[in-house]
Amino acid sequence: TVEEMENRVREIKKELGDRLYIPGHHYQKDEVIQFADDTGDSLQLAQLAAKNKPADFIVFCGVHFMAETADILTDDHQIVVLPDMRAGCSMADMANIHQTEKAWSTLQSTFGDTILPLTYVNSTASIKSFVGKNGGATVTSSNAKRMLEWAFRQKERILFLPDQHLGRNTAYDHGVPLEKMAVWDPIKERLEYEGVYEDVKVILWKGHCSVHEKFTVQNIAYIRSKDLETKIIVHPECTHEVVQQADFAGSTKNIIETIEAAPAGSKWAIGTEMNLVNRIIKTHPEQQIVSLNPNMCPCLTMNRIDLPHLLWSLENIMNGQVGNQIKVDEETSIYASHALQRMLERA
Ligand code: 13P
Ligand code: SF4
Repeated sequence: TVEEMENRVREIKKELGDRLYIPGHHYQKDEVIQFADDTGDSLQLAQLAAKNKPADFIVFCGVHFMAETADILTDDHQIVVLPDMRAGCSMADMANIHQTEKAWSTLQSTFGDTILPLTYVNSTASIKSFVGKNGGATVTSSNAKRMLEWAFRQKERILFLPDQHLGRNTAYDHGVPLEKMAVWDPIKERLEYEGVYEDVKVILWKGHCSVHEKFTVQNIAYIRSKDLETKIIVHPECTHEVVQQADFAGSTKNIIETIEAAPAGSKWAIGTEMNLVNRIIKTHPEQQIVSLNPNMCPCLTMNRIDLPHLLWSLENIMNGQVGNQIKVDEETSIYASHALQRMLERA
């Protein structure tokens, strides 16, 4: 039963003590997040991993790229486990290393040595490594603006992978007009841009989050037509139009803190993943909160991590047969860690 599984997780946690560390991303299910030692947004989870906790086993409740980041930032002897290997991220899968190398060589021949690559942490370790090798850095949704400012102090142009929406929203915030942003289509292997190439300041990789794309301007119009007092807060992985029409945009941590700081009786429509929206609704009964899209929008890969998979991972550790270890090879790890450290130094 669920109760038996929960009791067993508690027992194992007690037995392993400091040898076990369970970080959990805000999008994880309640049945899993209740056992997390720390919860956070992507930046916080990377910072926590970098702090060198003493744990021998890090059972990562999140998605594959987060577990890779944890492996890169922790010591060699520390073992990172992802409770279900199917917990990937469709956005991270939209940029593979071959496409990126191809794009880079085409862009270099067009723009010469004027481009710095930045990658959202929602990317594979090989992409982070490529970016690190080429002098660039990672960004998260909570420091993207600061990192873009840093990047523009290094080079004239930025290639932003793999989320076009976070890239566009951040660059626009920084003051880059939409006319100076081009889009690289990795399938057609070409640059989508109508103007003169010298004007391009930002090249956006044509990737997106399939969860956040489901929040639309129609959803916003519907909320506004019902009640003008409802404030709309969205994640910057939403499209530019949605972010522009919303009242606020921010990372998962930022969304949580904004609602926490609001007075009782406030009305909100939130545009982000379902588990987090439901948790905020539950923890703030004093406010009126709905999902911006009534269909709620779950992240199916985040949801792969459930109580049975968490318990399975822990039992394996107890039996001395670790399963689903996430291990980034050494060369990839070295350069990816340059990209991550450049961010962590400035985060
Ligand atoms: P943050 O928690 O950094 O806002 O990221 C959201 C996300 O999509 C993670 O996959
Ligand atoms: Fe990837 Fe979007 Fe899910 Fe985050 S919410 S893990 S970006 S698919």
